[in-house]
This record gives sequence, C-alpha cells and structure tokens, in this order.
Amino acid sequence: MKILVTGGAGFIGANFLNLLVPRHPEHTFVNADKLTYAANLGSLAEIATAPNYLFTRVDIADMAAVDAAFDEHAPDVVVHFAAESHVDRSISGPREFVRTNIEGTFNLLEAARRTWKDGQGLFHHVSTDEVYGSLGTEGLFTEDTRYDPSSPYSASKAASDHLVRAYHRTFKLPVKLTNCSNNYGPLQFPEKLIPLMIMNAQDGKPLPVYGQGTNVRDWLYVEDHCEAIWTVVQRGAVGETYNIGGNNEVKNIDVVHGLCNVLAQEMGRPPAELLGLITYVKDRPGHDLRYAIDATKIKEQLGWSPRETFETGLRKTVRWYLDHKVWVDQVRNGEYRNWIEQNYAGR
Ligand code: NAD
Ligand code: DAU
Repeated sequence: MKILVTGGAGFIGANFLNLLVPRHPEHTFVNADKLTYAANLGSLAEIATAPNYLFTRVDIADMAAVDAAFDEHAPDVVVHFAAESHVDRSISGPREFVRTNIEGTFNLLEAARRTWKDGQGLFHHVSTDEVYGSLGTEGLFTEDTRYDPSSPYSASKAASDHLVRAYHRTFKLPVKLTNCSNNYGPLQFPEKLIPLMIMNAQDGKPLPVYGQGTNVRDWLYVEDHCEAIWTVVQRGAVGETYNIGGNNEVKNIDVVHGLCNVLAQEMGRPPAELLGLITYVKDRPGHDLRYAIDATKIKEQLGWSPRETFETGLRKTVRWYLDHKVWVDQVRNGEYRNWIEQNYAGR
C-alpha cells in the first residue's frame, strides 16, 4: 500500500511515521508536509533514508500542489494529520487555521474523490475532542456528543470533520475519523503545556498557569494515539468515527506539579525550586473547562486501549526532553523564539 501522511513532520505525524515505517516495510509512506514552524525534519532522522519512506513538501491549501502529489504518488490511503494545531495561535491569528484546516482538508478530499473510483481508497481524518466544546464537571464525550467548538482552532477542525463526513455521504468517499484528547510525549513543539513547562522549568523561567489551573484535560501518550490511529486504519469501519482518550483526567495545576516533581528528581534539584516558578496568569479567552473521552467504542469494537499511564508517560517525556538537547536547541533557536517573545512575553 502507498500511504500519504499529511503533516508527518509535526509532533503526532512524526511519531506515527517513526513507529510504522520500520514496522511495515511492505508499505510505502509518503510524508506530505508544508514544513511550517511546527515541523521538524530532524524528528524523522531515524527513518529519513528508509527505502519505504519519502518526503514531499506540499502546502495542502494549494490545490495544484495537492493534485500534483496525488498524481505523482497515487496513494491508496491518506492519513491526514496536517493542521494548524495550537489554540492560542488560533486566537492571535485565526486566518491560517481556516486556510489549512478547512481549505486544506477540502483540497485533499477533492483530490481523493478525483483519484479514487468505486469505493477505492481510504481517507483517515485525524481530529480532536475540542470539536465537542467544553464539559462541566460531569460526563464524557462520546461519538454522538453534539459539536460545540469554542476556539477558532476547534471550529476549523469541526468544519473539516463535517466536510469529511459530507464527502462520505454525498460522494461515497471511504472515510474514517478519530477524535482524540490531549497528546503528550517526545517531539512536541514547546508551545503546548507540557513541553513549554519542561523548557521553562529548566531555564528557571516562570511556569504560566492560565486562570486558576483548574481546567481539566484527558492526557494520552502520543504513541498510544498512533497505535489507535493505525488500528482504525486497518480494522475500523468505513464511515465511522472513533473517540480516542487516555482515561487520564488531570487538572492543569496537577500536571504542572507532577512535572515539577519528576523534573526535580531527574535533574537532581529540590522540587520547591521548580514549584516556586509557578505563576498564575490571565486566562485564555473561551477556555474550555474540561475534556474527557469515553473510548468504549474503540476499546470494545477494535480492542484498542492505552498502554501508558500518565505517571510512566510523563517520566518518559521528561527524560526525552532532557536527553535530546540538539532537537530542543534547534527548535528553540528558530521561529519559536520570536513567537514566544511576541505572544507569551511578560508571563
Ligand atoms: P503540529 O502542529 O505539531 O504539526 C502539524 C504539522 O502539519 C506540521 O508538520 C506542519 O508543518 C504541518 N502543516 C501545517 N500546515 C500545513 C499545510 N498547509 N500543508 C501541509 N502541512 C501543513 O500538530 P500535531 O499536534 O502533531 O497534530 C496533528 C493533528 O492531530 C492535527 O490535525 C491536530 O488537530 C490533531 N490532534 C492533535 C492533538 C494534540 O494534542 N496535539 C490531539 C488531537 C488531535
Ligand atoms: O484536546 C486535544 C487538543 O489538545 C488538540 O486538538 C490541540 O491541537 C492541542 O494543542 C491541545 O489543545 P489544548 O489547548 O488543550 O492544549 P495546550 O497544551 O495549549 O493547553 C493545555 C491546557 O493547559 C489548557 O487548559 C490551557 C493550559 N495552558 C496552556 C499553556 C500553553 C496553561 O495553563 N498555560 C500555558 O502556558
């Protein structure tokens, strides 16, 4: 099979490729990525020369470029990760989210529709639990939860989910969707909560917690997410949606406390030194209170459940950032630094 992986140089896409390229020499994986600020080809160093891996630079919002990639590579499967993914960026600059997440997904669907005839192909859309909006203190998101997105990011992902389902209903395009909770682990760009806190704590900088730190996220180790996606690609039913979650609801402030304790142990520093860096800052506008996934469907129908606990996953993640100084320095010396200075200054 030829598998076109969009956004394969980003956090989850790179973890997906690093896991699957060596495991499946019988498949060819084509990584189509625009290489935005969030991408890093260094994340793919271990598979860069594998005979079953190719990279092609494609902006999915450019229809001609998407058509050319489909013509050249004739994929049997698309696993669509490419997106603008950071909620705070969608608040300071929403346009790119509409362009990539909505128009980009539309372009891929159009190219797939043109290329695949009579039930050929598979379009796997990687989406988020944020499309469901915010939970109160009770309840879980199921696949039937009504869409109610809060941020420009989640609204753009919701629109892309609707387009994918519409192409299935209207044009019979074979599609599958997964909506996943917060990922963490190696290779995550340090604008997201966990790697940002690891960087700042190492540097002795403030650890900015939004609002009261009482918002809850359901954390999933990235490799567990990648295994879940692959399970759905292989054995999920066409036209279906599967929620993916870690069964790991944690308040933000408890995430940061946990991180400080693990980091202090791993760095041989007193925990109080890192805990003292915690600073409460102005809340994110439209900040969803709580996300939590009911992953019964994928567990019962496809036999997937997460392997990593939050404790083991967090320690692995901290160790990875401490052990990969070259990757970290490369990321921090790039455009990241400008953005952090412009948008997260003074926190
Ligand atoms: P990321 O920001 O780390 O990486 C995104 C990748 O997409 C980058 O390599 C970037 O270069 C590429 N990209 C962006 N715009 C592009 C364009 N116009 N054309 C081609 N490539 C482009 O994102 P991530 O955290 O790896 O998320 C991947 C997918 O998973 C996204 O669709 C996101 O919505 C979804 N998701 C993420 C999480 C999470 O916690 N990170 C959870 C659930 C779902
Ligand atoms: O739920 C899935 C989503 O998880 C994905 O679809 C998104 O792509 C991904 O970015 C993530 O969104 P969040 O907004 O939940 O992730 P983020 O890491 O930005 O924030 C996690 C929580 O931590 C959130 O409640 C906001 C808070 N936070 C975040 C940052 C960056 C802070 O308190 N301080 C911070 O500096």
